Amino acid sequence: MRKIAESVYWVGVVHWDRRLFDSLVPLPDGTTYNAYVVQGSEKTVLIDAVDPEFVQTLMTYLDGVERIDYVVSQHAEQDHSGAIPQVLARFPEAKVMATAKAKPMLMDLLNIPEDKFVVVADGETLSLGDKTLKFIHTPWAHWPETMSTYLAEDRILFSCDFLGSHIASSDLFVTDKCRVHEAAKRYFAEIMMPFRNILAKNLDKLAEYDIAMVAPSHGQIYDSPGWIIEAYREWVSAPPRNLVALPYVSMHGSTARMVDHLTAALAERGVQVELFNLAVTDIGKLAMALVDAGTIIVGAPTVLAGPHPLAAYAAFLANALRPKAQYLSVVGSYGWGGKTVETLAGMIPNLKVEVLEPVLCKGLPKEETLEALNRMADAIAAKHRESGFRD
Ligand code: FEO
Repeated sequence: MRKIAESVYWVGVVHWDRRLFDSLVPLPDGTTYNAYVVQGSEKTVLIDAVDPEFVQTLMTYLDGVERIDYVVSQHAEQDHSGAIPQVLARFPEAKVMATAKAKPMLMDLLNIPEDKFVVVADGETLSLGDKTLKFIHTPWAHWPETMSTYLAEDRILFSCDFLGSHIASSDLFVTDKCRVHEAAKRYFAEIMMPFRNILAKNLDKLAEYDIAMVAPSHGQIYDSPGWIIEAYREWVSAPPRNLVALPYVSMHGSTARMVDHLTAALAERGVQVELFNLAVTDIGKLAMALVDAGTIIVGAPTVLAGPHPLAAYAAFLANALRPKAQYLSVVGSYGWGGKTVETLAGMIPNLKVEVLEPVLCKGLPKEETLEALNRMADAIAAKHRESGFRD
């Protein structure tokens, strides 16, 4: 056990070589599954568990613990809950404290018997003797049942996925703020972004607390947490930036030429662009750009009468992540026809965007294609100015 405060210990796992989460999300820097033991003068609590792959590591830590009275399960996803059944088997007196929504999920996912649960209401407290836990429901960070836990005497917020980052490190506390900022933004973009409105309310709730330390369940612990809470406020609530996110794919180079021309035209007009060649890109980088972008342009060649499947994947992802962007369009080349724009437009019902005039061309881009791209760049620059997007 590694001490993080008086009678508070980290009992987690560093998963250095994990490279994919949910068979979907890239983890270039690995991750950790953080669990914590809080030993009060009367009761001892385990806050979250670890991914079931590492249950033995957790159990080895817990060999040094005489008794666990409660397991606080802040989130039912298995990377934090998966080892709870083994903890309950080792400490049969322990009860699982969870929200009313988490309880049936934990029963479904892990076959934990109903009589093991104590359901905790929002704002409910638990005395451990000389320490007090307060349960703060923080729904949709990032499942409906999620909560955080505030250790009042030490002013520690255990936040689970909320405010976390996927970084594997032997340092328990943040040592490189820039690196953690990027990883935390990536994590926000990939799983939290669709729930911005509710997260804003969760951040308002946290503002009532004097927080000296944020101990998430992934990544490093924040011993000076003001900046990560402020970063979340910006990602959640700030207006979009003067930025175009441009995911594209090109089969024979025509769409790539259009994308290059549009990128240069936007740059000349003072609009920042981030390009993502979907054939090779890290999808997490695209998600991060979507946190800020005022406009999304999809570069999609037509294949089999519709958008290239990689472009369709980008549209599907953007629709699921519900970014702040207010404008969207499509550029691309086709061979003889098809319904690329109609198909892509039908894939983004969640996005509240104004669709700008697309630019399609048959075969190689011609002079009129480049002029149309210039007009698109003019329109985007004007829209960004009118909308007051930040540089
Ligand atoms: Fe880290 Fe949503 O689990």
